[in-house]
Amino acid sequence: MTIEEKDIVEALRPVEDPELHRSIVDLGMVDVVDLSDPAKIEITIKLTIPGCPLKAEINDRVTQAVKPLAEGREITVLFGSMTDEERAALSEQLGGGQQQGSAQKNIREIPFAQPDSKTRVLLVASGKGGVGKSSVTANLAVALVDRGKSVAVLDADVWGFSIPRMLGASQDPTIIDEMIIPPENHGVKCISMGFFVEEDEPVIWRGPMLHKALEQFLVDVFWDEPDFLIVDLPPGTGDIALSIAQFLPTAELFVVTTPQQVAQQVAQRAAFMAHKVRTSVAGVIENMSWFTGDDGKRYDLFGEGGGTALSELLEVPLLAQIPLTVPLREGADEGNPIALDSSSEAGQIFAKLAETIDKELAPRKKFSAALKVS
Ligand SMILES: Nc1ncnc2c1ncn2[C@@H]1O[C@H](COP(=O)(O)OP(=O)(O)OP(=O)(O)O)[C@@H](O)[C@H]1O
Ligand SMILES: [Mg+2]
Repeated sequence: MTIEEKDIVEALRPVEDPELHRSIVDLGMVDVVDLSDPAKIEITIKLTIPGCPLKAEINDRVTQAVKPLAEGREITVLFGSMTDEERAALSEQLGGGQQQGSAQKNIREIPFAQPDSKTRVLLVASGKGGVGKSSVTANLAVALVDRGKSVAVLDADVWGFSIPRMLGASQDPTIIDEMIIPPENHGVKCISMGFFVEEDEPVIWRGPMLHKALEQFLVDVFWDEPDFLIVDLPPGTGDIALSIAQFLPTAELFVVTTPQQVAQQVAQRAAFMAHKVRTSVAGVIENMSWFTGDDGKRYDLFGEGGGTALSELLEVPLLAQIPLTVPLREGADEGNPIALDSSSEAGQIFAKLAETIDKELAPRKKFSAALKVS
């Protein structure tokens, strides 16, 4: 059988770009198929950006896809890169470059704020710092992926970003034209200020700039309609939380607290904020609920009852109680959230939490509770 160019193209059609999750054929990345030498198959792939870090992966995928047709011919994959025009066209095709797209309206559109958006937006908030918002975000994200959901995380903690580290997302985002392709690890896409500033560099931006940056994260990032967008908020009820709640009007708010009564008082503030911006409070998550000692006994290191008290006050369910465990902390430090380990106690609790949110809390419950706090 003599193979033709169209056979090669068909064989390449199922090959997806590792970042964009679209067929490389549809993306216009297959540039030249050269079959002139009967001993060879030479394919030139146009990368979205020169020196794309995923070149080796693409090479592998292309070679594997063409192999069944090769009949002993040597497969060579060559790489070129798209021109600026081609990149702009690609960005347009993917729904990016919204500035041009919505020029008549002169507004930039946030996909998650559209009435037909299929994405559930979950905000993870608390009244004070260090209660485990980012840990809950990273683990819940991984646990939802484990349920077969597509999940993205927006790290809205612009000063104290920790999501890239906790998710082990070490690759920088790729920029195609004006579109930002979010890095992905453990099946979770994420974007964070951490990708745009140096490690030790403080973020000194003020309110309006941060508002713009967050808007850009929502508008210019190629989120690709995930089932869930989880937003890790900074502690407290400042400008960022207000911006986010304005950008994402259908968001459901989850308040993380510790068992301490004092922490519960501050967590209440997040619920007040929810009321202020008309976001619904979907539930309370208590973290650091107990520690199991070597003797097998549970110790309430941070007291008890905080989660229950807050959930009663807000009239929303207490969705989970998460123990204080060393593997949970280590997993966060190493970029391997404990929820990846389904045999661990915390892993099972996060799996249950993901199930509750996915099944019991869908479709969205109407906000009702925070009113009662005042
Ligand atoms: N259940 C837990 N068991 C053990 N360690 C935990 C647990 N929850 C959080 N930690 C650790 O406590 C620290 C603070 O947690 P995390 O960063 O998730 O809190 P946060 O609310 O996001 O903090 P911030 O307000 O600074 O953003 C981290 O080092 C984290 O690994
Ligand atoms: Mg945090």
